[in-house]
Amino acid sequence: MKILLNGQTLAYTDDGQGIPLVFIHGFPLSRGAWKEQIRPFQDTHRVITFDLPGFGESGQPDGAMTMSRYAGILKNLLDHLNTGPVILAGHSMGGYIALAFARKYPELLRALALVATKTGPDTPDGAKGRLATAGKVGETGTGVVIEAMAPKMVADQALVPEVRKLMESASPAGVMEALRGMAERPDSTDLLPTLKVPVWIVSGDTDALIPHAESERMAAVIPGSILTLIPGAGHLVAIEQHALFNAAFQVWLGTIR
Ligand code: MLT
Repeated sequence: MKILLNGQTLAYTDDGQGIPLVFIHGFPLSRGAWKEQIRPFQDTHRVITFDLPGFGESGQPDGAMTMSRYAGILKNLLDHLNTGPVILAGHSMGGYIALAFARKYPELLRALALVATKTGPDTPDGAKGRLATAGKVGETGTGVVIEAMAPKMVADQALVPEVRKLMESASPAGVMEALRGMAERPDSTDLLPTLKVPVWIVSGDTDALIPHAESERMAAVIPGSILTLIPGAGHLVAIEQHALFNAAFQVWLGTIR
């Protein structure tokens, strides 16, 4: 489905009934990154996925993006869908956005799943690199990002063509704005001990982009959080080891009312 909200066209799915379970995809992916979760969790939850501006089938971003702006766009969608408080799952950049959402809209958060993500900002060199990459995307298109990132997303390289496909719907504007937004994202670490909702933290044991140690660091400072390490999975843990991921997710979801 598509909806125009405050000048932004968003593509989304909304299926099933129960407590709303909302998924935010990572960079430079699309809601297709949750394809292994959409069907299984519909039996117990209202499952919502959406494409961030400039990704998947959503419209182009209308100006500069920050994690906070993405969170605001999600809030508009949830208001439109009249969800009330949601269980929010964010993968990687989607996790950065979920943390921004948790800070801005705590009243809309019932529980938080942080998937292969982290709270720290970019290093100065990392941010510089992102801005340089954004410049290259402006000159030559998204290929430079897809070729660099797709092989790092999964442990099993046989999955790379599938990952590349998920990335091919991203537009240059979407990728550039996300890179710039990530380069300037603030440190979210201070938020963790203040979280008042159940938190599940999960990552793959062979994540080449955000090591599991980041998950351990987050779990250590979030009271009552649950930490899961999924074996045989890279960064795209929810696709690569979807059966293990879904089983652990289901157990945690079962504790949330
Ligand atoms: C992602 O998967 O969203 C990215 O790896 C996040 C990042 O580049 O920091």
